[in-house]
Amino acid sequence: MLKSLFQKQSKQNNDGIVPIDPNNMPAHVAIIMDGNGRWAKRRGLPRTMGHRAGADVLKKIVIAANDMGIKALTVYGFSTENWKRPEQEVSLLMSLIREYLLGNVRDMHEHNVRIRFIGFIGGLSDELQRIIKDAEDLTMNNTGLTLQLAINYGGRDEIVRAIKDIVADVQTGTIEPGAITEDAISNYLFTKEFSNVDLLIRPSGDYRISNFLLWQLAYAEFWFTDANWPDFTPQILEDAVRAFQQRERRFGGLKTEE
Ligand code: FPP
Repeated sequence: MLKSLFQKQSKQNNDGIVPIDPNNMPAHVAIIMDGNGRWAKRRGLPRTMGHRAGADVLKKIVIAANDMGIKALTVYGFSTENWKRPEQEVSLLMSLIREYLLGNVRDMHEHNVRIRFIGFIGGLSDELQRIIKDAEDLTMNNTGLTLQLAINYGGRDEIVRAIKDIVADVQTGTIEPGAITEDAISNYLFTKEFSNVDLLIRPSGDYRISNFLLWQLAYAEFWFTDANWPDFTPQILEDAVRAFQQRERRFGGLKTEE
């Protein structure tokens, strides 16, 4: 106990800030980009301005996460439940996603970022589906951060789709029922190769999962901040990573010394 306290204190630099340990990075970080509406309301602005500010912050956080050596970043851009919002807000969000991709994909490509989409993309407009495919195709061989944009995504919807696909494959004999393991199920999800989240960040002071990555969050560390998403900064991302590095992950087992 004393030893571990000493180790923690001794790691602080002159500013009293514990430096980030590059050997203990969360490989997969997920963020629920919440609080855009409240950010706008507090400033007497329409909610849509909050979403615009949120899209600008996303650009900065993608670059910061890539620079920090995070392997995958999954962000919640539009949920299967967000269709319930007023039509004007839904169409602004769709245009923002379109603008974000048209305006940033080339830059992200130059930063070696690979872009992938998770969610029911077939439910989006033909134009957006084309832009999404172009972004995935252009960046597919990049080796830096994988940015997974969750659009028209719902964790329960993802599981229902996976079950239907598994049943279809069992019926055609592509998979034996005995081969339906946790790994096999992970491969039927949208997230495929990134099916375990290490760190979930939720800004804006709410403490909910909101149907995000239900399967993938099984052993994630959760970190919350009161800052609304448009006020989120690379320094806040670093705070979250630092907190992650102080956590002891047991994955249902015991501490090594117990
Ligand atoms: C939640 O805030 C946020 C969303 C529903 C959308 C997030 C979208 C962006 C950040 C825009 C850009 C997205 C991409 C993928 C380019 P809220 O509206 O629920 O905020 P509130 O809880 O304060 O009302």
